[in-house]
Amino acid sequence: MTTLKDEVQSRRTFAIISHPDAGKTTLTEKLLLFGGAIRDAGTVKARKTGKYATSDWMEIEKQRGISVTSSVMQFDYEDFRVNILDTPGHQDFSEDTYRTLMAVDSAVMIIDSAKGIEDQTVKLFKVCRMRGIPIFTFINKMDRQGKMPLELLAELEEVLGIETYPMNWPIGMGKDFVGIYDRFNNRIEQFKTEGEDRFLPLNDEGELEIDHALKDSQLYEQTLEEIMLLTEAGNQFSEESIANGKLSPVFFGSALTTFGVQTFLDAYLQFAPAPQARMTTSGEMSPVSNDFSGFIFKIQANMNPKHRDRIAFLRICSGKFERGMSVNLSRTGKPINLSSSTQFMADDRNTVNEAVSGDIIGLYDTGNYQIGDTITTSKDMFQFERLPQFTPELFMRVTAKNVMKQKHFHKGINQLVQEGAIQLFKTVRMEEYLLGAVGQLQFEVFEHRMRNEYNVEVLMERMGSKITRWAEDEKLDENLHSSRSILVKDRFEKYAFLFENEFALRWFQDKNPDVELYNPMDLK
Ligand code: G4P
Repeated sequence: MTTLKDEVQSRRTFAIISHPDAGKTTLTEKLLLFGGAIRDAGTVKARKTGKYATSDWMEIEKQRGISVTSSVMQFDYEDFRVNILDTPGHQDFSEDTYRTLMAVDSAVMIIDSAKGIEDQTVKLFKVCRMRGIPIFTFINKMDRQGKMPLELLAELEEVLGIETYPMNWPIGMGKDFVGIYDRFNNRIEQFKTEGEDRFLPLNDEGELEIDHALKDSQLYEQTLEEIMLLTEAGNQFSEESIANGKLSPVFFGSALTTFGVQTFLDAYLQFAPAPQARMTTSGEMSPVSNDFSGFIFKIQANMNPKHRDRIAFLRICSGKFERGMSVNLSRTGKPINLSSSTQFMADDRNTVNEAVSGDIIGLYDTGNYQIGDTITTSKDMFQFERLPQFTPELFMRVTAKNVMKQKHFHKGINQLVQEGAIQLFKTVRMEEYLLGAVGQLQFEVFEHRMRNEYNVEVLMERMGSKITRWAEDEKLDENLHSSRSILVKDRFEKYAFLFENEFALRWFQDKNPDVELYNPMDLK
């Protein structure tokens, strides 16, 4: 009989972090194919481009062609049950993207070998770093000419400040790509996807054992030299450093040609952690506790335009979910019966009957939940650690179009802000309402929901991007406000400044060295 412990041990829950176009969709699709969760390559891609027909998308998502069902993808591979959580990028980037990273146990960072580390990767990386979760790196598109591998490693270490350990190393690239020198499995994997003969064993000295044309090539010589350099001057492999997010194992491959993907997946599953204990207001909660518990990390509205229901995504952190079970919502102490739950898979939406720590379930929500809420069967209504506040970068000034609708306007804003859809700031001078977001999508969702759920048309005036810094001070001289450093209060009444640009920030700091500013997302 499988015990709860066995089940939890088999879970691997992760997100892929990347900049758009690095190959996240392609890699996800290949992983799902290995797991047999989809039958045809192209399924995930078709969703991304909007060719996939499904009836119940959120309206905005429909316009953008993303399916809610791709928010969580689950598959079984060997003895593992793998959950991949989607982290939308591009114009779909939002705080939910960040919050998703609160619900995973590790992350896979995919990098385009020609582009190196890009903006969005850095942002997502910082959130993973804040949590101290293991980060695995997949350097993609080796079938194309890209940056030199040593240069890419240096970039990882310099830009992100993470140590690296190459699990394998490319032999050539682009037109000359021969395969990978697999340090971890002590073999060379030739650049072809099928046939066991694609693996060439290495001897104890790390050299080709058998006679092979590759042996006489210059590329092979060069690879051996680079491997020697890595062994002598590079980082040591350390499971402990991987586990605490200090060392990233690096894999090279080509998702499009499915090359290096399985090799990556096998090693990833071996070193990625199963669900761990999580901190609560009553101490640590073990994933194998008999008490069921979890927290809401994302709420998706208007899945079905005919109904106002939402789906709250719950990360299970302990115990076993059973359909129809009764739980308590810790924030309010209110009991809730979890009868209609839905689990999302890549191909279908299935009703979940059972799920354990590490799994994600979608709960129909008629307005009960807020982001960060804890639910549990435990009588002690503890709460999981509060989700961090993410630094908004985009701002809009917002007012109600119709002044007669002030009451609805305030109610709508307050509820959406509490739910975590968007951040609200008030200017100290004029008490104007400013909305802050990390991505444009949040404004669109806000506008849409204000109209559809609260019957209020809003006027939004673009303020562009700003650099937000909170102030430690309880009391501040309001004369510190200027058009280039807008003084605001957040919804917890904490002071913050919205700076026009880096220059304005530095200028302010020079002039006001006593004002202590901080960014909650800064790397420690
Ligand atoms: P994303 O989800 O991270 O945004 O990236 P996605 O997988 O959609 O990949 C972006 C582009 O990069 C796609 O090309 C895809 O085919 C290509 N790509 C992904 N992995 C590899 C790889 O290993 N090698 C090469 N050469 N290309 C790769 P596209 O032209 O934008 O789309 P499509 O028309 O080919 O589908």
